[in-house]
Amino acid sequence: MRILIIGSGGREHALAWKLRQSPDVTELFVAPGNGGTAGIATNVAVKDSDVPALVAFAKEHGVDLVVPGPELPLTLGVADAMKEAGIPCFGPVAACARLEGSKAFAKEVMQAAGVPTAAAGVFTNRADADAFVAAHGAPLVVKADGLAAGKGVVVAMTDEEVKAALDLMFDDHAFGDASSTVLIEEFLKGEEVSLLCFCDGKTALPLPSAQDHKAVFDGDKGPNTGGMGAYSPAPVLPDEKLDAMADIVARPILAEMARRGTPFTGILYAGLMMTESGPKVLEYNVRFGDPECQPLLMRLKNNLVDVIKACLEGRLDEVKLDIEPRSALGVVLTAAGYPGSYPKGMPISGIESAEELDDVQVFQAGTRREGDRVLSNGGRVLCVTALGKDLKDAQKRAYEGLDRLSMEHSQFRSDIGLKGLKRLGLA
Ligand code: AMP
Ligand code: GLY
Repeated sequence: MRILIIGSGGREHALAWKLRQSPDVTELFVAPGNGGTAGIATNVAVKDSDVPALVAFAKEHGVDLVVPGPELPLTLGVADAMKEAGIPCFGPVAACARLEGSKAFAKEVMQAAGVPTAAAGVFTNRADADAFVAAHGAPLVVKADGLAAGKGVVVAMTDEEVKAALDLMFDDHAFGDASSTVLIEEFLKGEEVSLLCFCDGKTALPLPSAQDHKAVFDGDKGPNTGGMGAYSPAPVLPDEKLDAMADIVARPILAEMARRGTPFTGILYAGLMMTESGPKVLEYNVRFGDPECQPLLMRLKNNLVDVIKACLEGRLDEVKLDIEPRSALGVVLTAAGYPGSYPKGMPISGIESAEELDDVQVFQAGTRREGDRVLSNGGRVLCVTALGKDLKDAQKRAYEGLDRLSMEHSQFRSDIGLKGLKRLGLA
């Protein structure tokens, strides 16, 4: 089987690492890939957003399965285009990818499906938005409707902050078309957790819970990033509650999308806030999360190709996920300055030494190879991920792996997993 993975992050390195273990896989391409995927697959110089070029490559190289990592190609219709070309693609069609590509659409679907979520107003002009703010008052959460590289959400604790966010989105057009529609949401309090489900259009099969760390600094301080670390399971959503949670936040969405004539196939990721009055959905992603994918795939023992095939053939009800009972935790190493401006091209050493530790994997993201060297090539550089007998052990082992690495001008959070340990009474 010849597989094409689309993307260039740590998630895509983890997907390549996992798919490599499948006996079915004869050839693995990653477009465009990174320094990590270069070691285990063939990197292909095609951008993740160039759908026609991706289809042409897949046709030309006899690709049997396409696995898109990021949301952008999905919202641009890569699954539709592959389908048209007769090439199986593990991801939702564009009509479903709108669940991530438009927060107003996601809100409308959630309301139609009866999924609990924050109350919200949807605005296309400033005057109506101002009137809503005058009526409700801060704290409020202001969200650009479209994709904004994780930067389109402002949690505004004062009316001034709400106004500044609206200035940014409506008047400065900071996110271009993505903020020509803006949502203003009720502020929710609680602990965040992610629930990812394999979906075949009818059946949603939950993976264990995971928790991301979005803020750049320890203690959830500083600006939001693409994710500074993640672990699984998250004690705030234990295994015995996964199925009931999928009934609340995933299965109604699958039923609603099927009812609309556009069944959802792929990974449905629900970002949840566990509030005092129950779980509420903050957002949907239509793909694996990065970095949640890294610890989750280290725990998944099934042959991933089998699970994906079952999704594509509508047979997911026959599948049982076989999950490693140990915990997994990943710590992201970034370039100093990220998510603002940061330097590139720093040599990274110690990757092999870290991977000599049992059950430690270094999933590379913003890296590239130059001869024998691995150089940084982005903000999020890599994610050191470890299995451990429990959360504390996984944390200890991931940081042991990280200790073996060195890169100038780097930074990382030293408290990945702390919320889970606190909940378990261990910190
Ligand atoms: P989103 O992209 O919608 O997940 O938002 C990014 C982050 O903003 C989330 O991970 C939360 O930390 C925060 N957030 C989003 N919506 C809300 C809300 N209604 N109440 C409180 N925090 C929120
Ligand atoms: N980790 C959050 C995301 O992938 O969007």
